[in-house]
Amino acid sequence: MKNILSMSQLTNNEVYDLMETAIDFKAGKESDIGLDKFAINLFFENSTRTKSSFQVAEMKLGMKEIMFDASTSSVTKGESLYDTVKTVESIGASVAVIRHPQDKYYEKLINDNMKIHIINGGDGTGQHPSQSLLDLMTIYEHFGHFEGLKVGIIGDLSHSRVAHSNAEILTRLGADVSFGGLDSWYTDEFKPIGSHMSVDELCQEMDVVMLLRVQHERLSAEENEEFSKEDYFNKYGLDMRRVNMMKSDAMIMHPAPINRGVEIASDVVECNKSYIFQQMQNGVFVRMAMIEAVLQGDNVDNKINKKRQS
Ligand code: CP
Repeated sequence: MKNILSMSQLTNNEVYDLMETAIDFKAGKESDIGLDKFAINLFFENSTRTKSSFQVAEMKLGMKEIMFDASTSSVTKGESLYDTVKTVESIGASVAVIRHPQDKYYEKLINDNMKIHIINGGDGTGQHPSQSLLDLMTIYEHFGHFEGLKVGIIGDLSHSRVAHSNAEILTRLGADVSFGGLDSWYTDEFKPIGSHMSVDELCQEMDVVMLLRVQHERLSAEENEEFSKEDYFNKYGLDMRRVNMMKSDAMIMHPAPINRGVEIASDVVECNKSYIFQQMQNGVFVRMAMIEAVLQGDNVDNKINKKRQS
């Protein structure tokens, strides 16, 4: 595949292939597919996990990183995203991982002239395919399947690219997805996918309880003013009382950053049902699999070109 932009782009077989490659990397598989190649991480929104784990993945595959800081780049002089990406392609980058606040920013970048591989590190409230794949890997490692699993996604659904990506792909892989949190966040796009339940019901019934951060940066000033951390935690937060209602083999997941005392109690973060740090660990291996998948296309093209020349 040339680019990885959204979960909807990937077939179920491609999702399983990426996940299984990530599991192989975790078990010790090595690859130098990125040797003598450059990667650039164009992040126009802040990130700790996605950016740093793509950097580690790039280095593990033999790539070198071209440093980029949006705040000191020529974007501040008005250069467009398209021209920025064409520029880094021209100076030799093979892969650009991009996080951008605009939904589907990548649609403007995809044309026959654009040779660089683009991996979406998160677009606005749209999609977060690398997060989704690492979430799938973490669930698959624990349960070994998706069919019939009950997954509850609780929190700021409407602003969450994680909710959008995961609700779609988990349903496609056979899981039964339900939702929790403020009614106003359970927007029309989620209604055909699954029902809205109380957090107590979700904790009792789900195999996977997936929490989301309240994205204050995407709420209106009025919504932020009305928001009470204490009220939110009492109504929707996961505390030990609710953890004790969960099935014995149920998982707690969160894409992070976490807000302790808002959507999750501090003592739940590292409890025995929490897979939050395993998700982060798996993020490196999933991102290696994604980079390898896009670069493998080059090797096929190179082989075809060499055959034609000989
Ligand atoms: N989960 C996630 O995308 O984290 P960052 O914003 O830190 O990359």
